[in-house]
Amino acid sequence: MGKYDDTYKRSLEDPEGFWGEAAEDISWYRKWDKVLDDSKPPFYRWFTGGQMNTCYNCLDRHVEGGRGDQVALIYDSPVTNTIAKYTYSELTDIVARFAGGLKGLGLEKGDRAIIYMPMIPEAAIAMLACARLGVIHSVVFGGFAPHELAVRIEDAKPKVIISASGGIEGKKIIEYKPMLDKAVEESSYKPEHVVVYQREHIKEPMMKFRDVDWAGLVKDAEPADCVPVLATDPLYILYTSGTTGLPKGVMRDNGGHAVALNWSMKNIYGVDAGEVYWAASDVGWVVGHSYIVYAPLLKGCTTIIFEGKPIGTPDPGAFWRVISQHGVGTLFTAPTAFRAIKKEDPNGEYMKDYDLENFKYLFLAGERLDPDTYHWATDKLKIPVIDHWWQTESGWPIAANSVGIEEFKIKPGSPTKAVPGYDIRILSQEGKELERGEEGLVVLKLPLPPGTLPTLWQNDKRFTESYMDAYPGYYFTSDGGFVDKDGYVYIMGRVDDVINVAGHRLSTGGMEEVVSDHQDVAECAVFGAGDQLKGQVPVGLVVLKAGVETGHDDIKKALVKMVREKIGPIACFKEVAVVKRLPKTRSGKILRGTISKIADGAEYKVPSTIDDPAILDEIEESLKELGYAKKYD
Ligand code: COA
Ligand code: AMP
Repeated sequence: MGKYDDTYKRSLEDPEGFWGEAAEDISWYRKWDKVLDDSKPPFYRWFTGGQMNTCYNCLDRHVEGGRGDQVALIYDSPVTNTIAKYTYSELTDIVARFAGGLKGLGLEKGDRAIIYMPMIPEAAIAMLACARLGVIHSVVFGGFAPHELAVRIEDAKPKVIISASGGIEGKKIIEYKPMLDKAVEESSYKPEHVVVYQREHIKEPMMKFRDVDWAGLVKDAEPADCVPVLATDPLYILYTSGTTGLPKGVMRDNGGHAVALNWSMKNIYGVDAGEVYWAASDVGWVVGHSYIVYAPLLKGCTTIIFEGKPIGTPDPGAFWRVISQHGVGTLFTAPTAFRAIKKEDPNGEYMKDYDLENFKYLFLAGERLDPDTYHWATDKLKIPVIDHWWQTESGWPIAANSVGIEEFKIKPGSPTKAVPGYDIRILSQEGKELERGEEGLVVLKLPLPPGTLPTLWQNDKRFTESYMDAYPGYYFTSDGGFVDKDGYVYIMGRVDDVINVAGHRLSTGGMEEVVSDHQDVAECAVFGAGDQLKGQVPVGLVVLKAGVETGHDDIKKALVKMVREKIGPIACFKEVAVVKRLPKTRSGKILRGTISKIADGAEYKVPSTIDDPAILDEIEESLKELGYAKKYD
């Protein structure tokens, strides 16, 4: 048996021994009573009784251990022409001081704070300061509209919101503060304070009594010590798209999260303390939480906050510049970023300007890695290009080529094998376990390893309904796929109404809720259509109310505007077609999967349950007018 097989087998046969050992690499104020509490399935808890602090493990312990002068965080911002470096000592002081400021505002263990910030170091500082106090943070991605922020404020009930005056998206300035004010106005729950980091390039007016200036707060603050929390206490809530407009509040605990993430750095990514690790994502997404902030700092690496884009800041050489300038060994990003670079620089000319000698591994996740992008990146970079699969819910990879354990031959289209701790199985719709090679629903046999979601924020019922009830004893990933005879996993896509746009997870159901609010819309379907750059984009089909014969173009424009205003520009909802009818099953279910296949020009079977097959031809014609359904020409 190879090293991977041994490790994997042990992780499933002896999870307590396996993770108990991994937990020795974390500092504890009090050791756990039990590694795995499995007394109330499907609610599993890791390291019950243990006490630790995540911020201490990310910062203070490295200073105490002699890494004080090592750079912990590099802020690289081509949009403001800034490069700033923070050593572990400096970052610890800044975080402790900001935590002191938050403490002065009355924040204490168990309180919530929403963080709504662009890609600046203060976003990570705010997260770590919350962790230091045992305050539960909930970071909201900046590309979401005020309504989405309001929904999250309503659910998390934060005592404080931490924000910045604005962000810079390529060449655009995005004013965060007015969006935040609008969200607070919409929410029935009101935070006590809003802490605003006023950026040099963007100054925003403050609201008397409620708003607190970041700089002023820090200036007068006493540094705060780390507060011991239980391993099972929540570290953060991260809202993610489900099948409806109401996002799911994925909860993450402290202890299991620290153990799993720390373990993942060496074993999955092959990274040691002292190395430079860069996740080019955004702190608003799970990748940003886990691999910009927590995991690299837990491990004692140098992490990078990059306020830029793969292209246009200033050119498609931006990633190569960062890699060579900061000596990055491992880059993690989404395939869409590479598709963008490939489109602008197909021959990789910009790479030639930079020394990429330190660059060892490229990891990609967030959406399927298409073979074209895989081959292009492999050919140009001549390093392993590793697809790996995970979800907001898991918090760290479920399937990967775990190079720190044993590096496998890559099969393009597969994120390689199950990561130790994850027991991946494939089931039929009826719940029967399928053979190797057979495609079905991807599930994970319980218990899930540490670091994965123990539940949804204050909503055990939605947790069990969403993930556990469909196939008792298993966590349902909502992805379809198969495992081949060699144990390689293949993820074929979501089987629910969630789509991935430029690696961003969005709910088509949520968009349908917005579209159907228009006074002239009788019914609608929003589905994901293949897109060369973004992987998928949402497309809307609307049936208008009887009598609405004219003004279709205005209605379409209004619908695009509504989704942009309610969900945000990040939804990339730009295409709508007016159709006479929607294809449905006889029981009335809209056949979104079939519509998607028609749009992509893929082969499809006319479902036997369809009400009227002739509708499919009408839909195809409408989609052709939008530029889809092309292979049929
Ligand atoms: N704050 C405010 N607005 C934001 C935003 C943010 N943090 N991020 C994106 N937006 C806006 C964009 O400005 C754009 O607005 P527009 O419609 O007015 O032009 C819209 O949301 C869509 O953004 P995006 O999907 O990023 O498209 P793009 O065409 O601007 O850029 C890519 C395309 C491929 C370069 C870009 O999507 C990218 O860098 N992707 C990497 C993906 C990634 O890191 N994923 C994280 C998961 S690992
Ligand atoms: P998110 O929660 O935003 O990370 O999105 C999770 C979803 O993205 C998964 O359920 C998959 O559908 C998709 N996904 C993430 N990584 C991959 C991958 N490597 N291959 C295929 N799909 C992926």
